[in-house]
Amino acid sequence: MTEPVIIGSERSEAGLPAGMAVLLTGGSALDAVEAALRLCEDNLADHYVGTGGLPNARGEVELDASVMVGSTRAFGAVAALHGYPHPISVARAVMERLPQHALLVGEGAELFADECGFGKAELLTEEARKQWREALSVTGESVEGENTRGGSGDIAYRLAALELVKRLAPHDGPWGTINVLALDSSGELVVGVSTSGYPWKYPGRVGDSAIAGAGNYCDLRYGGAACTGRGELSIRATGARVVVDRLAAGDDPESACAAMLADAATLPDEFRAELRVLALTPDGRHGGASGQRGSTYCVMTGSDPQLRFARRRVLA
Ligand code: GLY
Repeated sequence: MTEPVIIGSERSEAGLPAGMAVLLTGGSALDAVEAALRLCEDNLADHYVGTGGLPNARGEVELDASVMVGSTRAFGAVAALHGYPHPISVARAVMERLPQHALLVGEGAELFADECGFGKAELLTEEARKQWREALSVTGESVEGENTRGGSGDIAYRLAALELVKRLAPHDGPWGTINVLALDSSGELVVGVSTSGYPWKYPGRVGDSAIAGAGNYCDLRYGGAACTGRGELSIRATGARVVVDRLAAGDDPESACAAMLADAATLPDEFRAELRVLALTPDGRHGGASGQRGSTYCVMTGSDPQLRFARRRVLA
């Protein structure tokens, strides 16, 4: 029997204990990842995931999520999903109920969520709306109004949002997105990722969280990996897949994560913000890397089910 382990990125502490509770009662890594991420998606204090997530340039919360199972490399994802508070559960449903597909986006994802019976909800909280309004108003453009959609006002404020994105400095604190990686007592390994993506993003922008090999990858032979931060860099670097390839080549998890970040750092990127990554192996070893000093990730194990913070290796 394998000792259960669950790890997660910054702010996953809102959900990790629920995931560990699933693992401690012999539940599956898939159920543990979903349970943990659903609680993170419900955390209104977290503005980078689920309800309360910061909206796109139009003021609409648009969510991406994915899940990948190590033994089968089955993958399910949704992107640019509006109005459904638990994108991780819809991603899981894509994987399980629609196995001829791996990724649904926008309207199609919403149709599927509705057919599956997932409940709709308003995801834009007053606090997130306030932040959006304040951020876009620095451009002097009006950011709201019925008439903005599709009209000249709409175009003006999408352009204003792009100007704002261009001026965004890399964030000081943990940026966006929750990763949860779990190993269950049967030895199965699962990786889940959920995000509201880049604040004020261009409508329809999909980041790495919904893309296999970029923000999420899991192969039971070697391990799983997941990214947070600047998704475009992770997409271009195929971040999570590179980490798993490094694990296959014999790197320890922390070194595999650091090697990927070092490679991604060589990519030219005018809008560079930080990229972070975590990895977990089928024998329970884990590690992470980040570009920011003092950054951590959360860990719980079967033999030590207290939530602990482990340091990520820092790349200067
Ligand atoms: N890593 C999350 C995103 O770029 O959307």
